[in-house]
Amino acid sequence: MTRGTILVTGAAGYLGSHTVLALWESGFEVVGIDDYSNSERSVVSRIEALGQRALTMIEGNVRDADCLAATFGRFNIVGAVHFAARKSIEESFAESLSYYDVNVAGTLTVLQQCQRAGVNAFVFSSSATVYDATQPSPVDENSRLLGASPYGRSKLIGERMLRDAAQASGLRYAILRYFNPVGAHPSGSIGENPRGKPGNLMPVVCRVAASRQSQLSVFGNDYSTMDGTGVRDFVHVQDVAEAHVHALEALLQDRETLCLNIGTGSGTSVLTLIDAFERANGVRVPHVIAPRRHGDVAAMVANVGEAARSIGWRATRNLDAMCRDAWRFAQTLGC
Ligand code: WQD
Repeated sequence: MTRGTILVTGAAGYLGSHTVLALWESGFEVVGIDDYSNSERSVVSRIEALGQRALTMIEGNVRDADCLAATFGRFNIVGAVHFAARKSIEESFAESLSYYDVNVAGTLTVLQQCQRAGVNAFVFSSSATVYDATQPSPVDENSRLLGASPYGRSKLIGERMLRDAAQASGLRYAILRYFNPVGAHPSGSIGENPRGKPGNLMPVVCRVAASRQSQLSVFGNDYSTMDGTGVRDFVHVQDVAEAHVHALEALLQDRETLCLNIGTGSGTSVLTLIDAFERANGVRVPHVIAPRRHGDVAAMVANVGEAARSIGWRATRNLDAMCRDAWRFAQTLGC
């Protein structure tokens, strides 16, 4: 028996595609919407092959109120998971207005149309980048917020809008603050496939392992961390996808507001990740120490107690699985 239909914006994207599968596995129906501005249409047929069923996809933009209204009119939607957004910190400095447009105006439009349609369970993609990264890790959900980039500020505004809307209406929301999602579906057929040259660590590691780039630059080895390199909380994308299902279930039952860190709670340095990748996959990842990257912080690790307490979610996949699955996907892509 179906548990209701969920609207997933950005359904063809990295987190969206894995979440569609997790929702199906938990008995939900899905209507996806995507404008394919940072994803490939072929992802839809890959999701369908993995789920062995057809995915209802609307080609449209989250700032298009008419498209959303028509979608809510056509399907009996009970909740929304809103991924569709731009997500590069670096790019957001050069294209700030576009970030506010897509991320803030997009969230506003989806929220307004949810409200019009009486859909009051809303899961919002936020990011660890909303925290003041100068404070010591692990950070919990009450740690100081900053939003040090236009991207981070666009996410903070989205969070603020949700809180205000919930005060004034019956909206129930979950803010999920992702740390560093990596890995891919174990089949290797869906994963992270950004347009253009990757900047995040795992996609670069894959490129170097595939000899598409000669070496990886390790940005700084003089941080006050275990080996001097940056420390992050890498979390498997399938665990992240499952967190959405847990959050949605809680909202559809009795929870009204949730704000949760989504990570593993343990920090991995850049050198540790490279080493784990080489061991897990039997490949070499040549690397050199390079200067620090502007804007980077030494460590950013989640306190994940609240997610465990309030929605019973914990990441279950380890660093080896993250490395193996990322590499399997990179190989099917021809990376
Ligand atoms: C991780 C570590 C780098 C590349 C991410 C997202 C951002 C936001 C928050 C979305 C750092 C080092 C990297 C390389 C390296 N997520 N590195 N060589 O900086 O934590 O930010 O999380 O909401 O969008 O980008 O992730 O993968 O870029 O870097 O040494 O070629 O790897 O310096 O220490 P980051 P990252």
